[in-house]
Amino acid sequence: MKTGLQLAIAGLGTVGAEVARQVISNNAHFQRQAGMAVTITAVSARDADKDRGFSMQGIQFCDNPLALASMDNVDVVVELIGGSDGVALDLVEAAIANGKHVITANKALLAHHGYMLAEKAEKAGVMLAAEASVAGGIPVLKTLRESLSGNQITRITGILNGTCNYILSTMQHQGRDFDDVLAEAQALGYAEADPSFDIDGVDAAHKLALLGAIGFGTAPSIGAVDVTGVRAITMTDMDNAQKLGCTIRLLAEAEKNTDGEVLMRVRPVIQPLDSQLAKIDGPLNAVTFTGEPIGAITAIGPGAGAGATASAVLADIVDLAVGRITPFFGIPASQLAAAPQRVAPQKEECYFIRLKVYDRPGVLADITTILKDHAISVESLLQSGRSDDGENGDVPVILTTHEVPPQAITAAIAELTELPTVLAEPVILTMGHA
Ligand SMILES: NC(=O)c1ccc[n+]([C@@H]2O[C@H](COP(=O)([O-])OP(=O)(O)OC[C@H]3O[C@@H](n4cnc5c(N)ncnc54)[C@H](OP(=O)(O)O)[C@@H]3O)[C@@H](O)[C@H]2O)c1
Repeated sequence: MKTGLQLAIAGLGTVGAEVARQVISNNAHFQRQAGMAVTITAVSARDADKDRGFSMQGIQFCDNPLALASMDNVDVVVELIGGSDGVALDLVEAAIANGKHVITANKALLAHHGYMLAEKAEKAGVMLAAEASVAGGIPVLKTLRESLSGNQITRITGILNGTCNYILSTMQHQGRDFDDVLAEAQALGYAEADPSFDIDGVDAAHKLALLGAIGFGTAPSIGAVDVTGVRAITMTDMDNAQKLGCTIRLLAEAEKNTDGEVLMRVRPVIQPLDSQLAKIDGPLNAVTFTGEPIGAITAIGPGAGAGATASAVLADIVDLAVGRITPFFGIPASQLAAAPQRVAPQKEECYFIRLKVYDRPGVLADITTILKDHAISVESLLQSGRSDDGENGDVPVILTTHEVPPQAITAAIAELTELPTVLAEPVILTMGHA
């Protein structure tokens, strides 16, 4: 039996430094779990002098992370730099080529290059593991790949981005504007200085592409995910959602339709307050797997942060040490079905539509005529006072519809947008279920 596992950690930021601190400070426990000595032999970051909260004694610092991939005293490269390309991709490819195991938390890398990397890792006989890449501390990949492997998965839904969930749930509970809460999320470290990946839904889409691939046995396909973020959500939407007994959450959904096609979407959804997802507050994540024969199972927990993410990385290290090595996608990459294409949704849904219109007679008549022309039945219509930014005599009009085909909504919205009295791109949210 091997006497020890030697780690190299690339990236000593939020996650990398915490992994190092845990390996060093809880080494006796960790060694018991791993059944062997686990040591950090080398690390890399940009700033060699920064205090990372652990002793660098006996650890080699490399300015160039690529050096880690060819060191003799390294068995596993733990990639915690981030980014879909560039140094993270170069490092992972080099590590695999040199016969090193790879552990990462990098969903962007795997959503874009996961198929190629998994194939290379399997050919090289090394482990590629990334439990931390989806839902941080919640062991969702392991659950889907291993504990639910006997199920036919039909649907995966979840709140996969803690930043968006923090923003939306704080707007809900504190009645504060989007920009105000986003600034707070940045100050608290939940959101990056450039929050685009989070608030535009890209981060959730990366995670959904990986869940969809494992759940449905297909190559991952970020291009197949239809993505709408939360940038356009205002307190007017949240207030009106609450008047309807609902709130708003950014939901990621992957499901197989009746033709066996995989439909993947990330979008803000109006969620009834008594539903399980509406109760997910702050930076928490939640993922529900639906399958046969299990029915539905939901996991809830911390989706990001140093401790939660390090927890998942540490579990991958222990798995490697004890030989619990599975293909990243559950089955060998060569056996995955082709990556799904983007499919247009067919299922009828109820919608919440917010229009910013000139406050003048006849506007509502124009709107309802267009909806009628597309056989869209309105369930409720609310024209409230002047909007938050209604300096020009504009008002928000909120409509909810009965169930209608998505194509009808798309066509009607295109016509509504053309009306001279409609002043901005309409906000369209799907009404979710309890
Ligand atoms: N943060 C979370 O809660 C979380 C949750 C789940 C997954 N993840 C994933 O975990 C990974 C790391 O995230 P993080 O939040 O820990 O990022 P971070 O705090 O920004 O840390 C990134 C680290 O990479 C280092 N780095 C950047 N470019 C480098 C280069 N060219 N050469 C060497 N080192 C370089 C930085 O060095 P310096 O410190 O010297 O600048 C820093 O230590 C990402 O893939 C992220 O998506 C993060």
